Amino acid sequence: MIITIDGPAGAGKSTVARALARRLGFRYLDTGATYRAVALAGARRGMDWGRPEELARLAEGLRIEISGDRVLLEGEDVTDAVRSAEVTAVTRFAADNPEVRRILVQWQRRAAAGQDVVAEGRDQGSVVFGDAECKFYLTASPEERARRRAGDFQAQGKSQAVESVLADINRRDREDVSRPVGPLVRPDDAVEISTDGLNVDQVVDRLEKIVRDRLAQVKRTTP
Ligand code: DC
Repeated sequence: MIITIDGPAGAGKSTVARALARRLGFRYLDTGATYRAVALAGARRGMDWGRPEELARLAEGLRIEISGDRVLLEGEDVTDAVRSAEVTAVTRFAADNPEVRRILVQWQRRAAAGQDVVAEGRDQGSVVFGDAECKFYLTASPEERARRRAGDFQAQGKSQAVESVLADINRRDREDVSRPVGPLVRPDDAVEISTDGLNVDQVVDRLEKIVRDRLAQVKRTTP
């Protein structure tokens, strides 16, 4: 079974997807990490971001692995490195590159083949797994997402004003929806859940109930 969770930055997708996968015993696939890994590889090679064909060539030859919660690049654990502010700032060069997307979409489908997976990103239900049995679209107001992000930063000792986090969220939303290939869209057959005012457990409970109902339905209709 494939479960997709798409939505804008800061809606709580990673936390929710990870928790849902754990409850169901499914594999968690953080597809944002694949774009981040390509950007990290590019940054390390001093890539000229104005030459998309070079980044695509680099992406083609990269060995990216996701093993549990860890992200490996050429065998090196880069889980923390791909989440750094420097890599976040250049990840759009990977995400906006149609050829890089083609390569990573293939990678994501291979990673999910024959497995029960919770795949999280922007285009999972719309492009990568159009036939997924269960699709979710997670949202929250930009203000709520900015408050949560600011709280995360504070917990990491990197305080940032909510206003500046909000400006960043609004910019990322614009980038996500205007991307020419694989933009953020809500698939018609996705269940939309607004996480405003809900805690993580409440959101995961809702998703889990929907998934278990679907699983029971599949069992009933399969001879
Ligand atoms: O979810 P995230 O912040 O780790 O994603 C990193 C970047 O990659 C973000 O700019 C959106 C982009 N992305 C994408 O274009 N398609 C995906 N399936 C996942 C992430």
